[in-house]
Amino acid sequence: MELSRTDVGHLGYNRRKGGSHLKREVLSDVHSDKLFEQVYDYLLDRIRRGEWKAHDKLPSVRALAAEFGVHRLTVFKAYQWLKQNHKVYVKDKSGYYVQPGSLLPPAAQQDPIVSAYVHESHLSEIHQAEAAYQFSKALIDPNLLPNRYFSEYVKKVFDLYPKVLGTYATTQGDAELREALCRYFAGRYRFDLTPDELLITCGSQEAIDLIARVLVKPRDTVLLERPTYSPAIDVFRRQGAQIVPVEIYPDGYRLDQVEEFMRLYKPRLFYINPTFQNPTGYTVPAEQRKRLVDLAAEHQCLLIEDDPCPDIYFGKEPPPPFFAYDTSGYTIYIRSFSKYVAPGLSIATVACRPGLMNYLIKAKSLSDSGTPLLNQKIFLHYFFSERMQRHLEKLRTALAVRKDIMEEELAGTGWEWRSPEGGFNLWVQLPESTPMEELLVTSRERSITFVPGSICDPLRELKPWIRMSYSFLNERQLREGVRRFVGLYRELSGEK
Ligand SMILES: Cc1ncc(COP(=O)(O)O)c(C=O)c1O
Repeated sequence: MELSRTDVGHLGYNRRKGGSHLKREVLSDVHSDKLFEQVYDYLLDRIRRGEWKAHDKLPSVRALAAEFGVHRLTVFKAYQWLKQNHKVYVKDKSGYYVQPGSLLPPAAQQDPIVSAYVHESHLSEIHQAEAAYQFSKALIDPNLLPNRYFSEYVKKVFDLYPKVLGTYATTQGDAELREALCRYFAGRYRFDLTPDELLITCGSQEAIDLIARVLVKPRDTVLLERPTYSPAIDVFRRQGAQIVPVEIYPDGYRLDQVEEFMRLYKPRLFYINPTFQNPTGYTVPAEQRKRLVDLAAEHQCLLIEDDPCPDIYFGKEPPPPFFAYDTSGYTIYIRSFSKYVAPGLSIATVACRPGLMNYLIKAKSLSDSGTPLLNQKIFLHYFFSERMQRHLEKLRTALAVRKDIMEEELAGTGWEWRSPEGGFNLWVQLPESTPMEELLVTSRERSITFVPGSICDPLRELKPWIRMSYSFLNERQLREGVRRFVGLYRELSGEK
């Protein structure tokens, strides 16, 4: 959430003592920020706390300028930013109005202590719903993992490292694992890395969060794919970033658009998920990878490459990661192994150059004392085993079968999607007239969950789109669940 300045002490006033009196002298107290940014924060804070409700008219530019003792252009610019961030809208040139959805949840509005700490996590709210037909979880069906064999690796680890439970890992991660990963990346993609350039994290979610905390401060511009992995939107919003969406298509980005955005907005970073993208399943082609890496270096925009499932392909292997093309250090590579190797271990790694690595390690040390050593050692012995490699072959086949089943069951609906060449999801376009809210609520009542496209969209639009994961349910449940879902859709939309 854009809570950048709910720590209203920043503005030099205490809201519990009547914070609405923002004065010119208070604004100028703060030397680090521009005046219009402070006005922006002040207005946003009041909107989020519900001092104005959805569709309420906001004070005029003239009135606010007089109240704060600032130039009208300053207030105008603050309003323009709020408009760009979908917090306010303009009506018939009559003024600015509060955009619905800009307020904190009611409980948080009433409680000044809670409101200071509320973070949004749209996807986790959906995942918390128990359901018999889970199409919302892009996770592997646990039955597809070699569970029986895991105990062997656990035992092996205890034999090899009898004190494994008696010690912390280092914050950066187990040295033996980092060395093994360097060899693996060099062999597979020719990454030129040393163990010092790898950090082991608890999944890629932690990596995204650390990177955002280290690199993004309020009002930095961040480019995000549209649509994108929903929690990434929440993380960068929480940092107070100005988010600029970049459309992703089946054949990648429009690079001229990316270049223009880099030139125009001077973004701090571009978060990308270019291989079997979540939610679309699209893969950015190799030629674009090389060009985008060069563009990023030219415009000094970091590329944060999130790569959780390059091994889950149904045809040919995807192109090498962006990181393989990077010679200037502008790409940070996040590789998760938690999705399909052993989700219970939650292991991912971040590769980046040493300067930045030091900051990531410091940030991680403030939230934990390192990824659990036991998990790292089990992962090390399991991931590099022959059995794991055989398992991957079977997993690809099983997931391809499930994808086919979902597509077969959706075939008669008239809905549209592009068959993904890898990953866990179908990104499906329903008719424009779909009553999405009703579909969501009624599906939940009937024990079916899916991800509404709007939460994957930095602009919160893409209303008729949904993400349906085929990876979590077994074949029988999948068929049955999709049939029920399509039946429910027909019921709601009055189709026969
Ligand atoms: C693009 C993307 N990034 C990050 C994650 C989080 O992965 P992890 O389980 O490693 O935290 C996911 C999981 O769905 C994902 O799809």
